[in-house]
Amino acid sequence: MNLSNGKTEIVRRHNKVVYQDGNRLVKVYNDQKPGSDVFNEALNNARVIEAGGRVPRVLEVSQVKDGEWEGSWAIAFGYIPSRNLEQIVDEDEAHIGKYFEQFVRLQLDIQAADAPLLNRQKDKLRRMINKVKLIDPSVRYDLQMRLDGLKGGGKVCHGDFVPSNVLIPNDGSDPYVCDWAHVTAGIPEVDAAQTYLLFKVEHPDSAERYLDVYSKMADMPKQIIMNWVPVVAAAELARGRKQREQFLLNQVEAVFDYH
Ligand SMILES: Nc1ncnc2c1ncn2[C@@H]1O[C@H](COP(=O)(O)OP(=O)(O)O)[C@@H](O)[C@H]1O
Ligand SMILES: [Mg+2]
Repeated sequence: MNLSNGKTEIVRRHNKVVYQDGNRLVKVYNDQKPGSDVFNEALNNARVIEAGGRVPRVLEVSQVKDGEWEGSWAIAFGYIPSRNLEQIVDEDEAHIGKYFEQFVRLQLDIQAADAPLLNRQKDKLRRMINKVKLIDPSVRYDLQMRLDGLKGGGKVCHGDFVPSNVLIPNDGSDPYVCDWAHVTAGIPEVDAAQTYLLFKVEHPDSAERYLDVYSKMADMPKQIIMNWVPVVAAAELARGRKQREQFLLNQVEAVFDYH
């Protein structure tokens, strides 16, 4: 694809830059990112749309033709004129309770859908945990045994459900959810543990509040969600983000004390 000179940068991460380019939202990945991951994100998007999700549409997956990003894999979505829920909450903290309910309602609606063709949550977590040699093998074994005990699990689990991935359209229509790179077919409480962990990393004050609201709205005991926190924390370590390493290890070892 071509990127125009009029593009504006929305966010820059360690492995990609996200631009608005006219009526497209383009995610451009650096050369560390395998093409298969980019196609997987696009395929996930299509599967979630087929499962009834309100999701930005993929327009194109291809390598950038020229300029600074020549040769990089990129994925273009339809641009939704909107602000994300994180930006909205930052500017309107007084109504944070209302936004939390809206956020959890959206997560529960997504988790109500079945999408058995998505990658399986259990397999993805097991594979990621296996890579993390930083964790004692006995602890890894224990975490994987927990996953082996998982029954069922064909529900749509976003895998990165955080306020910055919820788009509130400017025209007042219903929210969209973006960023489906990590979606799996799985168990909702594991997905809730993932969201709880991500709050703990980025907005620690909001983590307990989220847990409280999710637990009540889903009628799900907090203990069941918390049981999965060491598992999702161990898997998160596979992403190799150094600045999160000690925090995540603490989340794993808060439960396992073999030393
Ligand atoms: N289709 C879209 N339309 C408008 N804004 C979007 C769209 N997709 C993403 N965004 C905005 O871009 C930000 C980054 O995109 P996202 O897909 O979440 O990338 P990342 O994987 O880096 O988190 C989002 O937080 C959101 O604010
Ligand atoms: Mg995102």
